Amino acid sequence: MKLIDGKKIAEQIKTEIALKVKELTAGDKRPPHLAAILVGNDPASETYVASKARACKEVGFDSSTYKFESDISEPELLRTVEFLNNDPEIDGFIVQLPLPDHIDEQKIIQAVNPHKDVDGFHPENVGRMTIGLPAYISATPNGIMEMLRRAKINTTGKHCVVLGRSNIVGRPVSILMSAATEPGNTTVTVCHSKTSGLKEITKQADILIVAIGKQEFVNAEMVKDGVVVIDVGIHRIESSRTKSGFKLVGDVKFDEVSEKASYISPVPGGVGPMTIVSLLQNTLKAYQNLIYS
Ligand code: GUN
Repeated sequence: MKLIDGKKIAEQIKTEIALKVKELTAGDKRPPHLAAILVGNDPASETYVASKARACKEVGFDSSTYKFESDISEPELLRTVEFLNNDPEIDGFIVQLPLPDHIDEQKIIQAVNPHKDVDGFHPENVGRMTIGLPAYISATPNGIMEMLRRAKINTTGKHCVVLGRSNIVGRPVSILMSAATEPGNTTVTVCHSKTSGLKEITKQADILIVAIGKQEFVNAEMVKDGVVVIDVGIHRIESSRTKSGFKLVGDVKFDEVSEKASYISPVPGGVGPMTIVSLLQNTLKAYQNLIYS
């Protein structure tokens, strides 16, 4: 079994981005600037936005966070989106999800200028990705494709099973894995909560991408020997073995599945670090105007 070390790949990509930023900002050109809108005080969202800011600093980007109380009105949030859409100093921005219930998430996503939509959530970017046009591809699917590319996994002609059909991970990664690209060119089966005979399907997977949001859901009985496993899940569970009293686990029972897998991405240190660098890659593309040129 070989580990697909997302942390190491992410570090490599950050080094490449930092070099590119140095090259592009020679003279007195401003660096790329990524902004984030954060509403409320969900701890996971706060951690995610703080990691993004730290990663920006590491590669020489500017970053800013627009933080609001959870009772912000929808029109006020839309005004902030419009402000960032029109600010020439901001290359790209994200609206951290989830948003409070009184705000229509789709309305906010669709208000973001697609040219600055480095999260790749706007229907224009999703549509462009679907038909193979240059597009901002959302962070997690892009991170998964980059991991497969850099780990040199041969995907053409393989059977890829995706567990989960979310707009953020399952759906887009299933589209990318069936695209006429390498990585890609796989025959994709998308499974979800209503799939019957799940185990019979997952056992056929050459590549299994798990984004089902259930801790340690996939066990050794559900996979075949030699499978490539990408684990997108992340769950904090209690542990008597760690100092903090907690540990992170994925959607896959790592210990037993890794015995059968040819390649597997761990949690932590797999897909997680890749998502942040994907956002940096998209922001660099926005700065260079590479997608909508
Ligand atoms: N919430 C969970 N993942 C993401 C993400 O990739 N982008 C945004 N904006 N919110 C998220």
